[in-house]
Amino acid sequence: MEGRKLIITIPLLLFFIAFFSVPPAAFGRKVTLPRKRMPQPCMNLVFYFHDILYNGKNAANATSAIVGSPAWGNRTILAGQSNFGDMVVFDDPITLDNNLHSPPVGRAQGFYFYDRKDVFTAWLGFSFVFNNSDYRGSINFAGADPLLIKTRDISVIGGTGDFFMARGIATLMTDAFEGEVYFRLRTDIKLYECY
Ligand SMILES: *[C@@H]1O[C@H](CO)[C@@H](O)[C@H](O)[C@H]1NC(C)=O
Ligand SMILES: *[C@@H]1O[C@H](CO)[C@@H](O)[C@H](O)[C@H]1NC(C)=O
Ligand SMILES: *[C@@H]1O[C@H](CO)[C@@H](O)[C@H](O)[C@H]1NC(C)=O
Repeated sequence: MEGRKLIITIPLLLFFIAFFSVPPAAFGRKVTLPRKRMPQPCMNLVFYFHDILYNGKNAANATSAIVGSPAWGNRTILAGQSNFGDMVVFDDPITLDNNLHSPPVGRAQGFYFYDRKDVFTAWLGFSFVFNNSDYRGSINFAGADPLLIKTRDISVIGGTGDFFMARGIATLMTDAFEGEVYFRLRTDIKLYECY
């Protein structure tokens, strides 16, 4: 009888010693781990794309159109309250420099919608589509675009062709903005996965 009690008591005792010997300060304390070295991009690309929004008068030149608007707006003019609820589909030319009239090297195709009432903020989902001797394939992007901030990072979530399985970050910068009709975004793509 005494022997069996001892067998139960010893592991229990060891458990309590182990538990209470951890200094209480260890709980919730910030532990600094050795810093991971920041990875370096394996590919860096800079492009510009140009968005000309249809406004009821520029059908010949428009590269994007409002396809959805809140009940208090319409599809000709962006809605009030920071364009909240408007969704735009685009097929924008991509150029290597900031000139709208430079020969396009590809198309930026996708959509954005405005998703904040109190400040201009959009959410972007689009692809860069290339089909020329320099680049063939696509790069896919997604992410929040708080467009009043000078630089915004969105995710590069994949790619095809020359950009097979691309992963990384694209830093967007509004390079020009003309009323509600034209804007130009500089896109600084940093891929951290290249194959
Ligand atoms: C369309 O683009 C052409 C060439 O860039 C320009 O001359 C013309 O004024 C534009 N038209 C409209 C309606 O914006
Ligand atoms: C769209 O809304 C704007 C602003 O409220 C208005 O001026 C315009 O006439 C509307 N256009 C159409 C086609 O309903
Ligand atoms: C890409 O360009 C080639 C010609 O260079 C053409 O045969 C092919 O259909 C194009 N692909 C797409 C998806 O447009």
